Amino acid sequence: MIAQANRLNQVKEYYFSSKLREVRAMAAAGKDIINLGIGSPDLPPPPQVISALNEALVNNGAHQYQPYKGTADFREAIAEFYQNHYQVQLDPDKEILPLMGSKEGITHISMAFLNEGDEVLIPNPGYPTYSSVTELVGAKAVYYDLNAEGNWMPNLKDLAQKDLSKVKIMWVNYPNMPTGASGNDSLFEELVAFAKAHEILIVNDNPYSFILNDNPKSILKAKGAKEVVLELNSLSKSFNMAGWRIGMLCGSEKNLNTVLKVKTNMDSGMFYPLQAGAASALRLNGNWFSSQNEIYQQRKNKVLELAKALDCVPEKDQIGMFVWAKIPQGKTAEGFVDFLLNKYHIFTAPGFIFGSNGEDYIRFSLCATEENIERAIKRIEK
Ligand SMILES: Cc1ncc(COP(=O)(O)O)c(C=O)c1O
Repeated sequence: MIAQANRLNQVKEYYFSSKLREVRAMAAAGKDIINLGIGSPDLPPPPQVISALNEALVNNGAHQYQPYKGTADFREAIAEFYQNHYQVQLDPDKEILPLMGSKEGITHISMAFLNEGDEVLIPNPGYPTYSSVTELVGAKAVYYDLNAEGNWMPNLKDLAQKDLSKVKIMWVNYPNMPTGASGNDSLFEELVAFAKAHEILIVNDNPYSFILNDNPKSILKAKGAKEVVLELNSLSKSFNMAGWRIGMLCGSEKNLNTVLKVKTNMDSGMFYPLQAGAASALRLNGNWFSSQNEIYQQRKNKVLELAKALDCVPEKDQIGMFVWAKIPQGKTAEGFVDFLLNKYHIFTAPGFIFGSNGEDYIRFSLCATEENIERAIKRIEK
C-alpha cells in the first residue's frame, strides 16, 4: 500500500466533485433534478468565437506546441480588453500571462511565492480553492471575515492590528463569489495601500465582473497597484467558455516572470485554436454582455421568487452569477440543501462550503433556464 503524500492530509476532494456524483446517481435513478448548484454557464459562447476556433484548426502550425506565454495576438487581445473595459493599460509582452482558467493560476501563484509556514489571508466565505491550494503548498491559511454588516468587504483596520509578519499573499475576489458584493474603487485603493504597508502580494480573482454588473472594475486601475497586486481573470463566465479552460493573469513583469518559472515547468502552451477563439471573444463589443445580462436578469428575478417561496432572504444589491441568501432561522445550510435535494430534487450549494461565515446561507446559481427555475418554484408551491 503506497501512502499518499503528507501534503494531501488536510486536503479534501472538492465538494462539487463528490456531491455531483450523488446528484448524477439520483438523475440516473430517474429523478428529475433541477441543478441550481454550480456556476457552469449553460448558454453558448458567441458564434463568432466558434467560427474563429474552427478556422484556426487548419492554420499552419496550429497543432504544434505554442509559446509558453501565449500567442502575441491573444496577449494583445487581452491588453485591448483591459483598456476598453477597465481603462487599464497593460504591456502585452510583459504584463499579461494567459492561463488555462483562473483556477490553475491560484496554484501557480501559490507555488511561485509561498514557502512552508508562510501565511495567506483568505476570505471567509470564499472560493474553496484558495484554502486547499494553500494547504497543498504547506502554507498556513489565515481567514479574514466577510459578513453582511461589513458589506462583505474586509475590515482592513482590524486586520492591520494583527501580526501580519508571516503573511505573504492575500486573496481577494471582487465582484465577490459567493456573496455577490461588488467591491469599489476605495476598497481597491485601500487594499493597495495595505499591501504596500505590510509587504503583502494581493491577488484579486476577477472572473465575474461582467455578469449583471454595469460597472466592471479591475483592481489594477488603483494607483500604484501593479507593484503589489496581481489580477486573475477568465473567459469562463464572461463568454460562456468554462470548458475551454482559458483565462489570464495580469500584473508586473517581475511578478509574472516568477509565476512563469512554475508554469513553464507545468505545461507546454495552450492549443492554438483556443487562443484564437478566445482573442475573438475578447474583441467583441459590449453588446455581447448586454445580451447575456438580459437573460441573467430574467433568471435572477425567478430565483428571487424561488428564494422567497423557500423563506430565504437574499442579500441586497448583489451582482454576478449567483444569488446568496440567508436560510430560515434554526436550519443548517447542509440540512436545508439536502432537504431541497431529497424532497424537491432541487440542487443548490450550501454556504458552509465557502467557510464558517456561510453557514446560514445558500447559493443559487443562475446557470439554469428560466423554465427550470419556474418548475422549481412550482414544486415548492405545490
Ligand atoms: C471565485 C472564483 N475564482 C475562480 C474560478 C475558476 O474559474 P476558471 O474557470 O477561470 O478556472 C471560479 C469558478 O467557479 C470562481 O468562482
